[in-house]
Amino acid sequence: MDKLIIEGDHRLKGEVTISGAKNALLPILAATLLTEEPCNIEGAPRLRDTQTMIKILRSLGKSVDFQDGRICVRHTKKTRWIADYRLVSTMRASFCVLGPLLAKLKKAKVSLPGGCVIGVRPVDLHLKGLSSLGADIDINSGYVLGKTKGLCGNHIFLEGEFGSSVLATANVMMAGTLASGTTTIEGAACEPEVVDLAEFLIKMGAEIKGAGTPIIEIRGKKLLYGATHKIIPDRIEAGTFMIASLITKGELKLKNVNWRHFGAVIDKLEQAGAWIKKSEHCLVIKARAQLKPVNITTLPYPGFPTDMQAQMMALMAVTPGVSIITEKVYPDRFMHIAELNRMGTRIKREGPYAIVEGVKRLSGAKVMASDLRASASLILAGLAARAKTQILRIYHLERGYDNLEGKLRSVGAKIRRHKV
Ligand code: UD1
Repeated sequence: MDKLIIEGDHRLKGEVTISGAKNALLPILAATLLTEEPCNIEGAPRLRDTQTMIKILRSLGKSVDFQDGRICVRHTKKTRWIADYRLVSTMRASFCVLGPLLAKLKKAKVSLPGGCVIGVRPVDLHLKGLSSLGADIDINSGYVLGKTKGLCGNHIFLEGEFGSSVLATANVMMAGTLASGTTTIEGAACEPEVVDLAEFLIKMGAEIKGAGTPIIEIRGKKLLYGATHKIIPDRIEAGTFMIASLITKGELKLKNVNWRHFGAVIDKLEQAGAWIKKSEHCLVIKARAQLKPVNITTLPYPGFPTDMQAQMMALMAVTPGVSIITEKVYPDRFMHIAELNRMGTRIKREGPYAIVEGVKRLSGAKVMASDLRASASLILAGLAARAKTQILRIYHLERGYDNLEGKLRSVGAKIRRHKV
């Protein structure tokens, strides 16, 4: 297992190009199951999650090529309707094949994705939505078995206890494109990745109104067609580099960003004292002076994203003063606290709150990554720390960041991978 070694306390300076968004790409790849015509996806990030989704599509009978950020998905005669545990259990987004398979083949058997370290992560909203469209759903031996004589549009309230669900909205929206009649999703997720999926489906011939608002209306079609689509930039990768710039007192120019997709992050960083200059597809970020603490509450879009909580915590941990971070999407997503504290941070968890008392300096330590964004927060802390930080279990990182180490190195970070 590889580990990362970071020699901290170096200012980052230079330009970084942000990759395509993982969370937009994965459901869009699932959507290619809705047609027998070829689809081309451009700007795809090189990630382990991308490879996993490609393997799932191949296991379902698609032929898939991935080269230079371009994924070509083609139909073969071997269509299958079973998504295996070995693949689905490694990546939750793969559950998104359920809606398209049910809509296209009228039957599907998809492994339940299971929990993960950031919380329980149920799929009840996915199943509620698909049942409302007329699918008979059965759960047996860890698999969801869905059957239908043909999906029918319906009015569905899809919000759960913790707000809207991104992938449940994606699953039901995809299923609705081939259902008879009109499907209305009330309490839909408004994330830019849902909008990107809707735009891809519209290119495929779907009729969808309201994506990006809490009410989405889909008028079902008999058939969808092939389409070509470029994935939106990854707002979480952009946010991570913005914090890398601030935490090292550096200055970064980020290219290929859509800053309209992360207003809540920009607002909080500006309140903390960041100087941010936005232009059409890029932004420049540096600290004005000593940063100030700010309180954060994670919420569904357009609120502060839970996927930026761990990184923001690393920044607040080295910002003198006290900040309170409230996690309202995944109340247990705090595995990084114990590891950050090994580097000298003073963070206390109380239920869904983290009380962060900023310190002047961190000291490098041996730490262990627990999940994707926790890995990013440990790297950020390592970049700010005095002396050497070693991060173990970095395989999480490859799931969601395209060449993070290489990009950090190109702007001056002393970071290297060590084969263990
Ligand atoms: C997506 C993102 C993930 C991000 C999350 C929240 C992808 C591939 N992943 O995950 O990076 O952290 O949104 O922004 O896009 N819930 C239920 N029942 C369900 C589904 C969800 O109660 O059936 C709850 C979840 O436990 C959580 C909340 O709803 O508390 C939001 O989760 P959801 O938006 O569904 O997350 P994902 O779509 O899985």
